[in-house]
Amino acid sequence: MSEKKQQVSRRQFLNYTLTGVGGFMAAGMLAPMVRFAIDPVLQPASQGEFHPVTDVADLTTEPQRVDWTVEQVDAWYTSDVTKSAWVYKTEDDTIKAFSPVCKHLGCFVSWQGSEEYSDQFYCPCHGGRYYKDGQNVKGTPPDAPLDEYEQKIKNGTLYLGKAKPREEV
Ligand code: FES
Repeated sequence: MSEKKQQVSRRQFLNYTLTGVGGFMAAGMLAPMVRFAIDPVLQPASQGEFHPVTDVADLTTEPQRVDWTVEQVDAWYTSDVTKSAWVYKTEDDTIKAFSPVCKHLGCFVSWQGSEEYSDQFYCPCHGGRYYKDGQNVKGTPPDAPLDEYEQKIKNGTLYLGKAKPREEV
């Protein structure tokens, strides 16, 4: 190998040096910008949050609808979303909190408490029905029980978290 090939001219040295320094500076400026741009995507979804919905003392054995608002962050867009639940206390003081979203096609169910539906949740869209314990009535369109909210009680207030699917019994 000749000695001539291994020599780097002053021009080449300056080119390499300036390119390297320029690239390093560009990366230094771009990295924070890229991190800022994708930051919302990297944030964990706000799962596991509990929201205060009602005083436990206000609950009865008759299901009551409670509504609350949560802030929903979807990447760079933030909006307020209203959530709902049907909440009641059983005879042995166990609190039940069901999602009002019908498991057939997603309409909202309501508590009938009438003789016609003999204390059932009723979905007006296709006549879906659920017993008071949220189990779907066989022979009606829904094929799964109403989702049940995770719950916590703190200082006499009921907090609800995520609504989770349940097994059919
Ligand atoms: S959406 Fe409820 S029965 Fe169809």
